[in-house]
Amino acid sequence: MKRIAVLTSGGDCSGMNAVIRGVVRTALANDMEVIGIMKGYAGLIEGLHEPLTTRSVSGILQRGGTFLQSARCPAMLTPEGQQQALSTVRRLKVEGLVIIGGDGSLRGARVLHQLGVQTVGIPASIDNDIPCTDMSLGVDTALNNIRYAVDCLKDTASSHDRTFVVETMGRNCGYLAVAAAISCGAEFALIPEQPYAIDEICRKLNQRFKEGRDNSLILVSEGVASAREIADQLKDCVGFETRIMVLGHYQRGGSPTTFDRLLAARFGVAAVEALIQGGSGVMLALSCTQLVRVDLNKVLDSGLKPIDQSLLDLLSPLGN
Ligand code: ADP
Ligand code: F6P
Repeated sequence: MKRIAVLTSGGDCSGMNAVIRGVVRTALANDMEVIGIMKGYAGLIEGLHEPLTTRSVSGILQRGGTFLQSARCPAMLTPEGQQQALSTVRRLKVEGLVIIGGDGSLRGARVLHQLGVQTVGIPASIDNDIPCTDMSLGVDTALNNIRYAVDCLKDTASSHDRTFVVETMGRNCGYLAVAAAISCGAEFALIPEQPYAIDEICRKLNQRFKEGRDNSLILVSEGVASAREIADQLKDCVGFETRIMVLGHYQRGGSPTTFDRLLAARFGVAAVEALIQGGSGVMLALSCTQLVRVDLNKVLDSGLKPIDQSLLDLLSPLGN
């Protein structure tokens, strides 16, 4: 294998740069050329690319986001767009492709594999919604961002006897909200995987208030409702002030944590090794501390990733 390419697609996350660095350095060490495709599948379709060298990836390990940039690209959903992407691959004489992104991006990777392109996918999304891997890249950094913000909020909440409703990202996956609730000592986590009863939340909040525990924290995953909607529902049944915070895209940025840097390094090196060994149509996954290759069909056809019940079970005793 003489030339490979790498792209980042979908929602960005911290650690993507570190994976690109791992891919480039490993490929160069194996006497391969590396091309960086800009702006995800949009760049693949339009042929936006640049050669990547050791110098291109120096100083990027600690930076959030992706220097190759990312995009959502509706054209990649069409057969015409997919053929254009294929012709760029052929024109650039790319023999192997590393695709870093979330489940949508991995669907694009599967299409390219089916079209005959040797493709390896890397799960990268703060949502932690990609099946078959314990963790996706960027999740740990996002959780640390949330923890920092919520710790700040708790300081001011306690000074004013306030309840805060904090909205996390995650699409239809509640992992960020649950993991953040446990690590930040929140009383409630509202997640798409589990119904919630506003009356019960009000009852508990009022009870806490009566006991002199006069500030509380509710984390709501964006897939359930907005923080504003939850705060409005609480307004009529609790007798104290509620404030909201929408964490938004802040969660996606920032310097990657050590966990994400290590994961990125492993992903980057393993992706090139997989290509050299002829691997294609696979995603690299973290499984009980080990990196494994999982068939993309298994990843993408296994339905929604279930929330870890053992994590959910921690909420009830800790949130009392
Ligand atoms: P993420 O990769 O973070 O989940 P998206 O779901 O927006 O983000 O997907 C990123 C891009 O992947 C889409 O804009 C599209 O270009 C491509 N993509 C998503 N689904 C498919 C699909 N079924 N077939 C081909 N390409 C897809
Ligand atoms: O998939 C990552 C994610 O950050 C989701 O949590 C969120 O719903 C979505 O992307 C936001 O997308 P955009 O960056 O296009 O606003």
